[in-house]
Formats: sequence, structure tokens, C-alpha cells
Amino acid sequence: MHKTDFGVLGLGVMGKSISLNIADNDFSVSVYNRIEADETHIVSKFIHDNSHYKNIYGFTDIAKFVASIERPRKILLMIKAGNPIDLVIEQLLPFLDKNDIIIDGGNSLYTDTTRRSRCLTFKNVYFIGCGISGGEEGARKGPSIMPGGSINAYKQVAPILEKISAKDKNNNPCCVHIGTDGAGHFVKMVHNGIEYAEMQLLSEIYAILSTSHTNEEIATILSNWNSRSEKSYLLEITIEILRKKEGNDYVIDRILDKALSKGTGSWSSKIALDLGIPSTMISSAVFARYISTLKEKRVKFSKSIKKKNSLKSINHKSLERAYGFARTINHHQGFQLIQKASENYNWDLNLSEIARIWTNGCIIRSKLIELSVEILKNHSDYFEDHITFKSLISSEKHIVTTLQYGLANRVPLDAFSVAHNYWISITTEKSSANIIQAQRDYFGAHTYQRNDIDSSEFFHTNW
Ligand code: 6PG
Repeated sequence: MHKTDFGVLGLGVMGKSISLNIADNDFSVSVYNRIEADETHIVSKFIHDNSHYKNIYGFTDIAKFVASIERPRKILLMIKAGNPIDLVIEQLLPFLDKNDIIIDGGNSLYTDTTRRSRCLTFKNVYFIGCGISGGEEGARKGPSIMPGGSINAYKQVAPILEKISAKDKNNNPCCVHIGTDGAGHFVKMVHNGIEYAEMQLLSEIYAILSTSHTNEEIATILSNWNSRSEKSYLLEITIEILRKKEGNDYVIDRILDKALSKGTGSWSSKIALDLGIPSTMISSAVFARYISTLKEKRVKFSKSIKKKNSLKSINHKSLERAYGFARTINHHQGFQLIQKASENYNWDLNLSEIARIWTNGCIIRSKLIELSVEILKNHSDYFEDHITFKSLISSEKHIVTTLQYGLANRVPLDAFSVAHNYWISITTEKSSANIIQAQRDYFGAHTYQRNDIDSSEFFHTNW
């Protein structure tokens, strides 16, 4: 057997799909899975099911797997984030040689990636923390890929990663070196944060429209939107979800209303707090999921509330404009967070390039992201873009109408409310923070700056 071009460790759904994608692109690939408990036949079954591929080689022995790959070896880990990554690195290390490259393709916490990358540098092994978006279909047909780490290591894996990735409208790969250390995983984390808020907005639209429309009617309304500026992958799948039936029942009506999460949304929120960036849309989406899981309490307390029936239906055009408004705030906040991290960690991130690799393959691909590529070429802040800012101003009345409808009909609109409040706050000259500063100074002598004297000086009042 000739040495192979690439190794994939972990044959879960994503690992299998990406291995087939690599093989389809004419690279030879060694695949490995452990043979514990219920995983004994995973490799043999995968090889058997895909026996028409002559460039996939299966292994259950880690030493043989490593030895089968051409040096410097490129090994993609497609396993659960967290401790398993450290354990697998420990297992691989004795068999690796100088300049081999480990790529972590999971949703790892970016600070873990930075730590792993620094530890492995001492062992002369490269580590690439690589965000991969697009789910099973993306992995199989072309995901959006966000690799971070040493540029020299990236150059060696680029021919493979760029070939298997999705392509943008100019046929360029939706894969680019993001930055050093954990930059790739940071950017993937914020991608997921934006994804959380996009999903939340769609669930709130469903909540509003289902007060007066059937699933089929909602799907028709959303289909119209999807033919215009709000077109997106998430909108598209929501339409399909609303139409999916199981016998006479709509599947959506049978799904329990508790939303789970794996961590990237809450990590984005925690990091936004640490970096001092108001990513309120992401955190509202995370908290909305948490509230949804309190089903038993919701059921109990709802019994004491008098039901309100919607008297009038909402104007769909208004709701569409409110949706566009909130999406812009969400993307603006997400990119502000990325920009701040770039400054904080000296990553020198290219926001427009990040938007470009999100135009295809990933979960948040949309017309707005296409537009963002141009906006972010000139500004790191969407509000500095004249057309975007004017459109937010003219959409304000529509978000107000949407919120009024939600209040009148007791529809919780966590993400929409937060989008509106952020907009009002960031466009209000005089905030009420003078009261906070006075209170801090009153009980803790924390001092305050004055608006009538050079603001770099701090004062204290004997209250
Ligand atoms: C992607 C997705 C993917 C995964 C999310 C789901 O970009 O392909 O974001 O990474 O589906 O991690 O996250 P939750 O389980 O937290 O919703």
C-alpha cells in the first residue's frame, strides 16, 4: 500500500462524511476509529459500505493508522470536543514525527486550542484548530472551513482543505487561514453564536405567526421572504420543517418545545462579557433556550394566566422588515465581537474574508452574509455603512409594530426586543449611566468623570 495523503480519526457522522468528501476529491485517506464497546464494527462497516472507493483505507490500530500516512502527516480529528481531544493527542504522540500536523475539526473552545497548539509546538508537532460548518451535508459536499494556527502548517494542508470546501460565487474556496492559535475556533464559535440568534428570531416569527396562521400558511409567507433580501439557508430549512408531515400530522407539532445546546452559544456570550462587547442578541438566544427547558415550570405557571387571543393579525411586510432589522443587529454584534477579539489577541482578522467563507457551505449562509462581504471590506462596524444605517432607521417603526404585537398577544420576543433595545441605546446621545456612576460613587467612592470638565479626570462627592 502507498502512503495516503490524509488521515481522519473518528468515524461519527461528520468524520464519515468528510472522509468520503476527501476521497471524492481524489485524495487517498486513512480512516481510524477505536474499537470500544459499541464501536467495534464501525471501521469495517464503513469500508464495506464504501467498497467502491479504492482510495479509503480503514484502521483500528492507531500505530498502523499513523504509519499509513505520508509525512509530514496530516491527521484530522473528528471527535467530541473537550477531554477526548487531549486523550487522543496523547495516544497519537508516540507515533508522530517532527512537523506532523494534527487538525481538530470539532467545536473546541478556542482557549483549549491555543493551549494545545503551544504544548504541541514543544513536541515539534503542528496543531490546527479548525472550525467546520455545514452539518452532515456540508461535510459530505463542501463545508465552510475556518482553520487557525501556524501559517506554515496551514500551507501544507491548504491544497486538501480548500479543495474539499464549499466554493463562493466566484468559485473561490470557502476556506481561508483565519489567524494564529485559537483564531479559527474563535471565529467558528461566533458563527454558532450568530446561528443561535438567527434560529431564535425564526422561532419568534413562528410564535407570532402561529397565533393566527396554520403551518402551511406560515411556510408560504416565509417562502415569499426567502425569494427576497432575507434569503438564507436557515429560513429555507424552516420552511421545509413547517411543511413536513408524518401521516396527517405536521412533525413540528409533535416536537417537544425544549431547546438544547452544546456550548458554543454560551461560550460566545461569556467571552463577549469578558471582552466588554454587548453581544446581546447571542445571549438572548442562549437564555431563551434555557427558559424553554423549564417546561414543567412553564406549564404550571401558565395555568394561572388568562389566555389572550390575537384579535388582529400582524402585517407580514412589517414583520419581514423587523426580521431584517434584527438580523442586521445580530450580524453587526457578531462581527464586533470578532473584531474585538482580533485586537485583543493580535490576530489581525480579516472580517470581509470571514464573511466571504460564510457565503456558502455553512449554516448561516445568506444574502445578508453576501452583502456583508462588501460592507466589511470598508468598515468593521455595520453602522458605519451608510445604506445599512439608513435601512435600520427606516425599519425602526416595523420592529416597534412587531414588539407591540408580541406584547398585546403575550408572545415572548427575546431576540427581537433585544435588537430594538440595542438600537435605541446605541443611537441615544444621553444615557442614564450618570445615575449608575453616582450610585457607585455614593456607596463605594468609586469616583466619576464630569461632563463639564476634561473627562480624563475622576471626581468624588461627599454625598
Ligand atoms: C455548524 C453547526 C454545528 C452544530 C452546532 C449545534 O456550523 O455546522 O453550528 O457546529 O450543529 O454546534 O450547536 P447546538 O447543539 O449548541 O445548537
